Amino acid sequence: MGYPHKSHPRETPLLTRYFGEEEARTLDGWKKRGGYQALEKALVMTPAEIVDIVKESGLRGRGGAGFPTGMKWSFMKPGDGKPHYLCCNADESEPGTFKDREVMRWTPHALVEGCAIGAYAIGAETTYIYIRGEFTEPLIWMDRAIREAYDAGILGANAMGTGKRIEMYVHKGAGAYICGEETALMNSLEGQRGNPRIKPPFPAVSGVFGQPTTINNVETLAAVPEIIMKGAAWYKSMSLSNLKSTGTKLYSVCGNIRYPGTYEVEMGFPFGEFLHELCGGALDGRKLKAVIPGGASVPIQTMAEADATLMDYEGFVAQGSMLGSGGVIVIDDKQSMVRVIARLARFFAHESCAQCTQCREGTAWTTKILERIRDGQGTMEDLDTLLDLADLMTGTTICVLSDSCAVPVVSGIKKFRAEFEALIHGKRVHPVLSAVA
Ligand SMILES: Cc1cc2nc3c(=O)[nH]c(=O)nc-3n(C[C@H](O)[C@H](O)[C@H](O)COP(=O)(O)O)c2cc1C
Ligand code: SF4
Repeated sequence: MGYPHKSHPRETPLLTRYFGEEEARTLDGWKKRGGYQALEKALVMTPAEIVDIVKESGLRGRGGAGFPTGMKWSFMKPGDGKPHYLCCNADESEPGTFKDREVMRWTPHALVEGCAIGAYAIGAETTYIYIRGEFTEPLIWMDRAIREAYDAGILGANAMGTGKRIEMYVHKGAGAYICGEETALMNSLEGQRGNPRIKPPFPAVSGVFGQPTTINNVETLAAVPEIIMKGAAWYKSMSLSNLKSTGTKLYSVCGNIRYPGTYEVEMGFPFGEFLHELCGGALDGRKLKAVIPGGASVPIQTMAEADATLMDYEGFVAQGSMLGSGGVIVIDDKQSMVRVIARLARFFAHESCAQCTQCREGTAWTTKILERIRDGQGTMEDLDTLLDLADLMTGTTICVLSDSCAVPVVSGIKKFRAEFEALIHGKRVHPVLSAVA
């Protein structure tokens, strides 16, 4: 975690093991560490064999939804006479999430290699790596890595001398959170406004430029070379709790915690030990109060729930939340939950693309009401209105940004109602913080 990177002895560093090593950023340094052997191995396999290994490994999408990667790849039909595309989603705009940024900063060739294997497996001649515009340093490293790979004949019309074509481009986003949603990303790539599209058709049928497309997260693709080199059984064996969750997972940890940073642990690691031991627990004189474990879009956990969680897709759900993007936001007893939730709502209202009425109006009204409560002007009726709004905003829109705004509101009111009521009844529980704009 952090820089210079030093893993905690209880981490399992696979994707993070070269973080902080300057030399690993270059092609020569990457090759010294075994880089591009997985691509070499993959290019003499059939695409179907690669898809089968990834399926067998149990790898699931690390972008938030946890969809099985091998299954997603099997929806593509190489050889159907159409152009095919792979899009690597490096938009990473979810609040509290910065693990993909670190992969691109420290091991850009791991991502190039993962993308190249993925592209070959799904029959995509062209890969776009869509990077959020604010990621100025990762953009430089990814550009450089792709250029080095082209110059060395790893990419191009005759990738690694195999006669196979693998083209790769970096596309710079312009700072909109919504462009991380896969169909908005595709519109943005095409030069259109980054609005999500109605599904179906799904990207594997009609994606970028109306052609079959697969979208995968940075961390998902960066894990693929490891799986190709060491095998599906090895990857699958990294599972401490539920066999449906395999491998390692990166977490970006921020907020009121002693050691913020990027961590990598096996699926099923105990969250309580992760927070208190690896991340160092609360700051001096403070107590942890709540955790948002998977980026701003997942339900807030109480500390009792967090301490009982096993960190995998099923474990977070069992304790009232979701794994999401792995962006862990820690909140201590000096913070007002109402302030935190109002701040999140304002973010979603700002980022709504405004196509859907429930989202456009719902995120705006949710923010207005929450800020009214935060400022001591709320009523008990406001709490019912917020919950009614959240209901209307869930499952009714083109994409799930609307649902994402409702999620912290509903979990916040359910689990921390006393803080809302205290503000409504005129008790300024956090006088210092509520004075900060
Ligand atoms: C509003 C919104 C923002 C999203 N932002 C990202 C993002 O920044 N990065 C990402 O990988 N996935 C993001 N996703 C999820 C993508 O739509 C998609 O599911 C993911 O990139 C698929 O990759 P995976 O299968 O490897 O997880 C977002 C989804 C929504 C609804
Ligand atoms: S839910 Fe919101 S962000 Fe998503 S398409 Fe509708 S208006 Fe746009």
